[in-house]
Amino acid sequence: MEKTPIHGMWSSRLAFILAATGSAVGLGNIWRFPYLASDNGGGAFVLVYLGCIFFVGLPVLIAEILIGRHGRRSPITALAQITRETGAPRAWAGIGWIGIVAGVLILSFYSVVGGWTLRYAWLYLSQLFGGPAILDPAASFGAMLADPAALALWHALFMAVTVGVVALGVEKGLERAVRFLMPALFLTLLLLVGYGATTGHLGQAASFLFRPDWSKVDSGVLVAAMGQAFFTLSLGMCAMMTYGAYLPAKVSIPRTVAIVAVCDTTVALLAGLAIFPIVISFGISPEGGGPGLIFTSLPLAFEAMPGGIVYGLAFFALLFVAAWTSSISLLEPATAYMVERGRSRRSAALMMAGLCWALGLVTVFSFNIWSHVRMLDRDLMGLIELVANDIMLPLGGLLIALFAGWVLKDSILREQLAGMPAWGFTVWRWLLRVLCPLLVLAVLLNALL
Ligand code: PFF
Ligand code: NA
Repeated sequence: MEKTPIHGMWSSRLAFILAATGSAVGLGNIWRFPYLASDNGGGAFVLVYLGCIFFVGLPVLIAEILIGRHGRRSPITALAQITRETGAPRAWAGIGWIGIVAGVLILSFYSVVGGWTLRYAWLYLSQLFGGPAILDPAASFGAMLADPAALALWHALFMAVTVGVVALGVEKGLERAVRFLMPALFLTLLLLVGYGATTGHLGQAASFLFRPDWSKVDSGVLVAAMGQAFFTLSLGMCAMMTYGAYLPAKVSIPRTVAIVAVCDTTVALLAGLAIFPIVISFGISPEGGGPGLIFTSLPLAFEAMPGGIVYGLAFFALLFVAAWTSSISLLEPATAYMVERGRSRRSAALMMAGLCWALGLVTVFSFNIWSHVRMLDRDLMGLIELVANDIMLPLGGLLIALFAGWVLKDSILREQLAGMPAWGFTVWRWLLRVLCPLLVLAVLLNALL
């Protein structure tokens, strides 16, 4: 029996692909992936990451979307309902709670970095009208971080546009905007890769990104790669599950999911291929770039290339849009849950966004007044990323894999994946039942011990 949706429905398969790709493609691909590769030694990290995407990310992505579509409610409600239908322990609904907590933590710092993209878009816009050039990008980036009030303000602005869309419901406006803006982002990246090629360092960049030095692989690299695989595909915190709840019944999940994963991975690799040639050509080491990597390296190129100001503006404006379509999906699960608890969509979205904004101040202060605070060899923002991205997302994903693999009834799986070839179904289920949980567990335990 098909349950009726209450939050709305994607108007078509394409709308879902755009929304899910919008969620996946974001700061994770263009800001986080290059600097993680930079900090974790390049090629070995990238290959472990690609392995995690293929063997863990894809199967879990299918599982999340099918659970969502079967439940047709916010994750907590949907999971609780399924446990009732199947007689499984109610505790499984805890997956939804892990998801909501992880989502709040992630949105708290995501929105701060989203604010950076707005600030940089603004800097290039004002340059077009005669504003000052970014002559020393590292100093300019440092000055921004040193100013908590400015950071909090850009962060507020980013959160405001996020809550604006979520309060209206996702179908209105966003579907149409994303249809045009995601291809534009893709093209801008290609242009930058083309510019990178003219620096003559594309080969060096490619070998940094793809030639593995296995001696660099330690438990830290494994954890970072697994965490990034979950983060980049928006997995483990029930965001994709929530988007799945709005997916029309006739759409094939596996084929749709493959498109989303390919787009996401392509954008990340293109971002790497755009950024590292520029970094190398300016004599900067590709290693150890940290969260400032794209903000300190790309402006060097934008100031040097003809028409660079326009590219700079286009790049950061589109990066903002990519971040925006992701932050919406970070806010949606908690909002949908509060709506089911009886709040209006608007007040639910505002409340959760306010909470995330306030929590985001921890990230804001981690760059200035609290920059001396360090735990587990990280600053406070790094610590939030570690807990949310690298621990909670994989843990959520592990539980989702076990739930879909062992608890959900066969008939539900087959109904949701009708049309998937029998061998594909079998492979998917055993990946989910055994390989994904073991891999994730191995990585997490390795990190703890
Ligand atoms: N996938 C997004 C990115 O790569 O930027 C980040 C993200 C969005 C993570 C939504 C988790 C999530 F639920
Ligand atoms: Na991503």
